[in-house]
Amino acid sequence: MAFDTGKIVGFITAISDSVQAAFIPLLEVLPEYQGRGIGKTLVTRMLEKLKHIYAIDLMCDQNLQGFYQKWGMIPSVGMVVRNY
Ligand SMILES: CC(C)(COP(=O)(O)OP(=O)(O)OC[C@H]1O[C@@H](n2cnc3c(N)ncnc32)[C@H](O)[C@@H]1OP(=O)(O)O)[C@@H](O)C(=O)NCCC(=O)NCCS
Repeated sequence: MAFDTGKIVGFITAISDSVQAAFIPLLEVLPEYQGRGIGKTLVTRMLEKLKHIYAIDLMCDQNLQGFYQKWGMIPSVGMVVRNY
């Protein structure tokens, strides 16, 4: 999480089996705090924590692929269920 004097201004989460696979479902930075390097720091720290994991996956809109490519992530395809 990222804090500004006690207020949460950004966070990232991951779930993992601690051996082979991890998934990053959420990365969010409050709009007024975006563009200050917070998202980059959160992703960098999470990938450092998960560096022993073989497969690290996340879903994102196409316009964010360039953001994640900074860490060498590559586009892929997948299937999902959404129980709205
Ligand atoms: C995506 C998000 C997390 C980025 O966080 P941020 O704190 O604004 O990003 P940063 O300030 O750390 O930016 C880091 C770098 O990524 C770049 N970047 C930011 N958004 C980008 C995008 N959509 N595509 C490509 N590069 C992007 C920045 O220009 C910056 O580049 P630099 O290091 O060369 O200066 C933030 O915009 C956000 O919360 N968006 C809404 C929620 C969302 O889309 N979450 C992702 C779900 S998959």
